[in-house]
Amino acid sequence: MFHLIGQIIEMALENKLKDTKKLYESFSLVGSLTLALSLPWIIFRVFKALYLQKGFNELFGKVVVITGASSGIGEALAHGFYKQGCQVVLCARRRQELERVRSDLLHSHRTVQTHPPVIIPLDLADINTLKDQVTKIMSITGKIDILVNNGGVSHRGTVLSTSYEVDMNIMMVNYFGSVALTKAVLPDMIKRKQGHIIFVSSIQGLVSLPERSAYSASKHALQAFSDSLRAEVTSSNIFVTVASPGYVKTNLSLNALTGSGSTYGKMDHTTETGYSSKFVAMQIIKAVAMKKNEVVISTLLPKMAIYLRKYLPTVYFYIMAQRAKKSMKN
Ligand SMILES: NC(=O)c1ccc[n+]([C@@H]2O[C@H](COP(=O)([O-])OP(=O)(O)OC[C@H]3O[C@@H](n4cnc5c(N)ncnc54)[C@H](OP(=O)(O)O)[C@@H]3O)[C@@H](O)[C@H]2O)c1
Repeated sequence: MFHLIGQIIEMALENKLKDTKKLYESFSLVGSLTLALSLPWIIFRVFKALYLQKGFNELFGKVVVITGASSGIGEALAHGFYKQGCQVVLCARRRQELERVRSDLLHSHRTVQTHPPVIIPLDLADINTLKDQVTKIMSITGKIDILVNNGGVSHRGTVLSTSYEVDMNIMMVNYFGSVALTKAVLPDMIKRKQGHIIFVSSIQGLVSLPERSAYSASKHALQAFSDSLRAEVTSSNIFVTVASPGYVKTNLSLNALTGSGSTYGKMDHTTETGYSSKFVAMQIIKAVAMKKNEVVISTLLPKMAIYLRKYLPTVYFYIMAQRAKKSMKN
C-alpha cells in the first residue's frame, strides 16, 4: 500500500494526471476492501483489550496463593500478580528463597499499594499437612481468591530405569499436592461463590515424551482433574484455568529427578533456550484476567505435536519412537 501511495505522489509530481486518476481509483478500491475486511478484526482487538483491562482491574486486592513461588515461573507469577495489586501468598519448601522473593517484591514495586506478601513454607508431597496450611493462610488473609498450583518437579529416565518410589514422588508433588490444596480451598470459594484455580501443567500434559513418563503422567492427570473440576464448579462462579507452557528457562531440568531419585543437575538445551519465566507468567496472568479455560504457551513445534497426537497419532508414535531410540543410544 505504501508503494502505491509512493507511486501516486511520484506520478502527480510528473503531471501524469490521467494515470494518477486510474491509480487513485484502484487505490480506493483496495483501501475500501482492506478496511472492510480488517474492521471486524480491529473491533475484535479493541473489545479484547477492553476485556483484558477489566480483568486486570478486577485482580486488585485479590488474595493469590502461589505454590512453587521460590523460583522460576512461580517467582515470576508472584511479581506479576503483586504488580496488579494482589496480596500474594508465597509457598514452597525453601523458606530462605521465599524470603528472597518477598524482599524482591517489596523492593521492586514500591509504588504498588497492597498488603505485604505472606510466606508459607510447605512440602507438596506432604499432602496430609496441606489442609492445615490452607487454614493457616486463611487465618492470616481471611480468604483465598486465586490458587495457583504451580509447584512441580520433572523427570529424566526410562520407564524401566525409574523406581516406583520416583513415580510416586513425582505424582505426589505434581498431582496429589495440587489436588489436596484445591480440595482445601474449594469449600470457602463455593460458599463465597467466587474463586479461580489455576493449574500450571505443561505441553507434556497434552503429549508425552520418552524418558519423561512420570512427569507426563502427572501433568496429564492434572489436565483430566481440572476438566472434571471445571464442570462441577462453574455453577458456583469458580473458574479453572489450565496453563500448558512449552520450554521455559528455569531450574526445572536441574532439579528433575532421575530414575534412581537423584537430581538430574543439567540444564537441557531446550530449557536453556526456552521462553523467559516472566513472559510465561504474563501469559498466564492474562489468561486468568480473561477467565480462559486453558492456554497453551509455546512455539509452533510443540503445538504441531499436539495436533499430530490427536489427528495423526501414527506419525506422532513414529517420531517419538525415533526420538527415544536416538536418546537412549547416547
Ligand atoms: N520450565 C519449563 O520448561 C516448564 C514447562 C512447562 C511447565 N512447567 C511447570 O512449571 C512449574 C514451575 O516450574 P519451573 O519451571 O518454574 O521450575 P523451578 O524453577 O524448578 O520451580 C519449581 C518450583 O516448585 C517448587 N517445588 C518443587 N518441589 C516441591 C515440593 N515438594 N513442595 C513444594 N514446592 C515444591 C520449588 O520450590 P522448593 O524447591 O523451594 O520447594 C520451585 O519453587 C512446574 O509445575 C513445571 O512442571 C515448566
